[in-house]
Amino acid sequence: MKIAILPGDGIGTEIVAEAVKVLKVLDLKFETEIALVGGAAYEAFGHPLPDATLKLAKEADAVLFGAVGDWKYDTLDRPLRPEQAILGLRKNLGLFANFRPAICYPQLVDASSLKRELVSGLDILIIRELTGDIYFGQPRGRRVAVDGHFPGSEEAFDTMRYSRPEIERIAHVAFQAARKRATERGPDQGPGRVTSVDKANVLETFQLWKDVVTEIGLQYPDVALDHMYVDNAAMQLVKAPKKFDVVVTGNMFGDILSDAAAMLTGSIGMLPSASLNAKNQGLYEPSHGSAPDIAGKGVANPLATILSAAMMLRFSLNQNEAAARIEKAVDAVLSQGLRTPDIYSEGTTRVGTREMGDAVVKALG
Ligand code: IPM
Ligand code: MG
Repeated sequence: MKIAILPGDGIGTEIVAEAVKVLKVLDLKFETEIALVGGAAYEAFGHPLPDATLKLAKEADAVLFGAVGDWKYDTLDRPLRPEQAILGLRKNLGLFANFRPAICYPQLVDASSLKRELVSGLDILIIRELTGDIYFGQPRGRRVAVDGHFPGSEEAFDTMRYSRPEIERIAHVAFQAARKRATERGPDQGPGRVTSVDKANVLETFQLWKDVVTEIGLQYPDVALDHMYVDNAAMQLVKAPKKFDVVVTGNMFGDILSDAAAMLTGSIGMLPSASLNAKNQGLYEPSHGSAPDIAGKGVANPLATILSAAMMLRFSLNQNEAAARIEKAVDAVLSQGLRTPDIYSEGTTRVGTREMGDAVVKALG
């Protein structure tokens, strides 16, 4: 078994170092290999996703990814920008299913910007389709408009599109996840529920989305299904987030809603993610970005990355026990009152990135 380690840019290198430290202590029999990605790879090789990095990622059983991007690359041609590395990995590895669990740890209820009673006990899962939609739809580009409101003017365009099989496979992932969560919660907690988020009232793409999710839902009579327009979903996420169980949505809406969901948990610094392909090969990354504003200061929260490593052990490497050990250790350090600045509240102990990683290692027992 091999893990590709791609720290990337900004705080990526700092937080991945802590996750690797945690993995190493577990003494599992994995090979690891590190490679440059994003702006760091652009500086060294002139491309954000060099062939060698892509090859390593493809060969590995799992990829542990930090973050990419820095404002200084914003003027580069789009194919050379750091963000293209993560998009290229998703596309080339076929990582269509993105899991973004939003769990509010009881110790962090007061770090959330929402009232305690709204987020206390929150445990929802956002499943975002990750290789289609307007992110990858062709054609796209710039041209001179031949019609529209201002013919003859410069215009830019992207294409939102989904095919039936793309919707079917992500719908299956969502229903199966809801079923599994319901089983784990126990029979007295009611059935699993999938909320499919669309914009079928306006967009053809999402009318097909809604129709196909409804059809697939018939194969899962034990899972409840409802549909919600994306604008309403954004509102409900901050109004009554605990009403959700599994949310399934397209690439673009999922990008936006998962950032909103992150804040329910106290900080985006707590939100891990897994992106899987049909073979259960996966890329694991914190849901947050490279945060160039705090890079190099040793204050970034490594917990989302450490929790992503736990997801990696569970989903791609079949190491449930080790995953649970990490999750317990994270819980323990929060109970000890240790907090990076993003989750700090009065009466807790402020620590840096490395101290937080060390504390998790120590709590592994
Ligand atoms: C995310 C990020 C990426 C996305 C960026 C970095 C391309 O925001 O993973 O949510 O838009 O998917
Ligand atoms: Mg995003």
